[in-house]
Amino acid sequence: MTKASVLFVCLGNICRSPLAEGALRDAVEQTVLDVVIDSAGTGDWHVGSEPDRRAQAVAAKNGVNISRLRARQVHPEDFYRFDHIIAMDSDNLANLHKIAPADGRALLSLLLDHVPGREGQSVTDPYFGDASGFDGTWDDVTAGIQGLLPKLRGSQ
Ligand code: 4NP
Repeated sequence: MTKASVLFVCLGNICRSPLAEGALRDAVEQTVLDVVIDSAGTGDWHVGSEPDRRAQAVAAKNGVNISRLRARQVHPEDFYRFDHIIAMDSDNLANLHKIAPADGRALLSLLLDHVPGREGQSVTDPYFGDASGFDGTWDDVTAGIQGLLPKLRGSQ
């Protein structure tokens, strides 16, 4: 059985993609699936930082601990290491396409492409809003994860 691998990508790797990483880790723990899961940012401003406090709070409220995650930047190696690289929004997806090595194997998509009826939509960047915006981010992220799970099952 091959192990599926997924990298979630946003801009800073402190809000949306750590929530996606935490939500998928939590969902996978409740299954027999064995999945390599990571997240990264296209930007480097927050490298080494823990997730934004508001992201940690919304995850904790939903029973998921993301406090030990640390931000890193996307690296060209990632396009060879991961089956799926899943962007939170269309700007980050466009940037991933720009830096993707021609022979990289990762399939690129948007998280909401995995939710029927929401293909092409972005998970809104909550960073410059208030804490309540993170509830909507959590709802979007978990909808994406629920849509993604059966596809990961299919690849094992
Ligand atoms: P994220 O949110 O991409 O979901 O982690 C952001 C975090 C930081 C910044 C922008 C978005 N920033 O401009 O520093």
